[in-house]
Amino acid sequence: MTTGRQPGTGGPRPAPGEPSLAELERRAASNRRRPAYGHDALIVCDRLVRVFTTDGVEVQALQGLDLLVAEGELMALVGASGSGKSTLMNILAGLDVPTAGAARVAGRDLLTMDAGARLGYRRDVVGFVWQQTARNLLPYLTAAQNVTLPMQLRGGRRRAARAKAADELLSMLALDHCRDRRPHQLSGGEQQRAAIAVALANNPSVLLADEPTGELDSHTAEQVFTAFRTANEELGTTIVIVTHDQAVADEVRRTVAIRDGRTSSEVLRRTERDAATGQESLVAREYAMLDRAGRLQLPADYTSSLGMAHRVLLELESDHIGVWPDPTADGAATEGDGDGPAGTAHGA
Ligand SMILES: Nc1ncnc2c1ncn2[C@@H]1O[C@H](COP(=O)(O)OP(=O)(O)OP(=O)(O)O)[C@@H](O)[C@H]1O
Ligand SMILES: [Mg+2]
Repeated sequence: MTTGRQPGTGGPRPAPGEPSLAELERRAASNRRRPAYGHDALIVCDRLVRVFTTDGVEVQALQGLDLLVAEGELMALVGASGSGKSTLMNILAGLDVPTAGAARVAGRDLLTMDAGARLGYRRDVVGFVWQQTARNLLPYLTAAQNVTLPMQLRGGRRRAARAKAADELLSMLALDHCRDRRPHQLSGGEQQRAAIAVALANNPSVLLADEPTGELDSHTAEQVFTAFRTANEELGTTIVIVTHDQAVADEVRRTVAIRDGRTSSEVLRRTERDAATGQESLVAREYAMLDRAGRLQLPADYTSSLGMAHRVLLELESDHIGVWPDPTADGAATEGDGDGPAGTAHGA
């Protein structure tokens, strides 16, 4: 085949309809000028891959996951068990290293950090709250001592300043009455709120929480979620919460769903005011994710109801793209009688 073009050697001219060399150069130059992916986001995951190998068996926990989180966001991550949520959180927490792709948090490259930088990252840049209440606090220290410990490990502040900062954090999360109590003298909800105070001790840019309300009843979970919201609003901390709790997922502006190690869809909520009545209501919309290569994950229930597999037909309309089942495939939905290939799959 003679599709190769040799710049500057008088090689074959582009076939009709193919872009000219000048056009290709112009496109390349404009690509170079375009800002890098996620250049203004606080958390950037770019085609993140994490492969675990146990006893020679490979598990692809993350399969090219893209995620951007803006500074100051409070967002939730949801997904079926085994979809890769904890794997992602452990990478963002600096506890695990991805196999491939790129991950950056507050300007730190999570793939190339050495051990010293990693320690500093975990101490200063991220805070973490685990699901198991017992894992977040040291049992032999009071709530206040648990909060001052990370400050002490970091160094720099005097004892009195540390105690004052700890009191302020506990007070902000409505835990004044808990300051001199040990974890076993706190309720599950108080323990998780104290854990949030500990995670905030060194004023991190990002607070990560992996199912922080998983062991709590719904009323207590709500109080813990309020503590996250307070931290987000009062301190401006960017917060990512993994949750199975629909009530928590419904409370945030943005919920990202992970499926098979990739972000698959996203629900955005915003308040809308009715022009006639002036009443405000929360409107939620679900979006599918479109990656930079143009790949789109169609919901399994949509594709199966139309018998779509392997191949689909696409058609560009003025305001949407139509997706139709392959009419030649076995088991494809019956063809529509209209002018489109199947006529029903609008609104991709
Ligand atoms: N250390 C590990 N070694 C081997 N496989 C692992 C390891 N950690 C996770 N996996 C596998 O990676 C996949 C993703 O796991 P992960 O813990 O990230 O899921 P999850 O979304 O947090 O699930 P859950 O909701 O149950 O907590 C699973 O198939 C899991 O078995
Ligand atoms: Mg998990």
